[in-house]
Amino acid sequence: MEPAQRFRDFALREARDNSPLYHRRALDISTDPTVLALIGRLPTDKQQPNLILAAARVNGANAIPYREFSEQLRQNWPAISATVSTRRTQTNEAGRAATLLPALARLPGPLSLIEVGASAGLCLYPDRFSYRYNAAALDPPDGPSPVVLTCRTTGAVPIPDRLPRVVHRAGVDLHPLDAGDSADRQWLAALVWPGQDERLARLHAACAIAAADPPTILTGDLNDQVTELVQAAPRDSSVVVFHSAVLTYLSPQARADFRATVRNLPCHWISQEGTGVLPSLVDRTPAPASKAAQLVLALDDEPLAFAGPHGQSLDWFVPA
Ligand SMILES: C[S@@+](CC[C@H](N)C(=O)[O-])C[C@H]1O[C@@H](n2cnc3c(N)ncnc32)[C@H](O)[C@@H]1O
Repeated sequence: MEPAQRFRDFALREARDNSPLYHRRALDISTDPTVLALIGRLPTDKQQPNLILAAARVNGANAIPYREFSEQLRQNWPAISATVSTRRTQTNEAGRAATLLPALARLPGPLSLIEVGASAGLCLYPDRFSYRYNAAALDPPDGPSPVVLTCRTTGAVPIPDRLPRVVHRAGVDLHPLDAGDSADRQWLAALVWPGQDERLARLHAACAIAAADPPTILTGDLNDQVTELVQAAPRDSSVVVFHSAVLTYLSPQARADFRATVRNLPCHWISQEGTGVLPSLVDRTPAPASKAAQLVLALDDEPLAFAGPHGQSLDWFVPA
């Protein structure tokens, strides 16, 4: 797809309801031939609007109105294109822990957590966050966390009355990020869209938690590493392999390979992926009530609920 079309689609389909600034910016870029020519020289897989807009932000192209922004973009293009070539869209959303938690709470503790496609591993700390599920509040034993996750629920969500005990945190990513590294944190922050201040505050607070007690995140492909990660977890715990918004990046064959591997390992498996990403779930997942993007939460290949993409909602399939 041509860059102009990509930016127009991004503006209308993704940004319009989520970030007024990105909506306007992407529409303006889609009609700016000079900027489109620069973008057109990038490799096709690097022409993603989200990636380019984040790279522009970390390299100081922030101006409003668009005429000045466009000027900054052109002047700073060598630095912006260098960022585009070395970085990827690896948005790490701690809010997804709110939709993982009811599935985790079904398992006997203590838990060993293994996240595949972990980014900086912020979802590996479900025991360190506070939760607000409709009227129900859940906090760590030592009091409310700086990360408070608010999640609207429907249906018979099994909200636990206490947080699980986690004894092991590990993961794998093709390109792990380090929550304790200021450049990686700056990049993660740039991936949060302008105007989403609550998400940004949550990101910084979750990074502080992860940086104080860093997880072990291996570098590599999840299919190559998952067996070793499970074997390294303590045996006297429930070992849980989980992932959110990751398998969509894999080919259908690689997804099928992963499913076959994880089903044969001595562990539980929690997936939170877009509808249709795991074909084994499709026939057993109800039709969504809305057209909004949603993830399907599943435990051991059993679909349980629709989860909001940032953990903001959880619609359990069993009615209340
Ligand atoms: C959209 S991010 C989601 C991060 C995190 N799971 C979350 O929910 O916040 C997807 C992550 O998956 C990683 N990833 C994609 N394909 C992978 C693979 N084959 N093996 C390991 N990690 C992969 C990417 O590098 C990226 O960090």
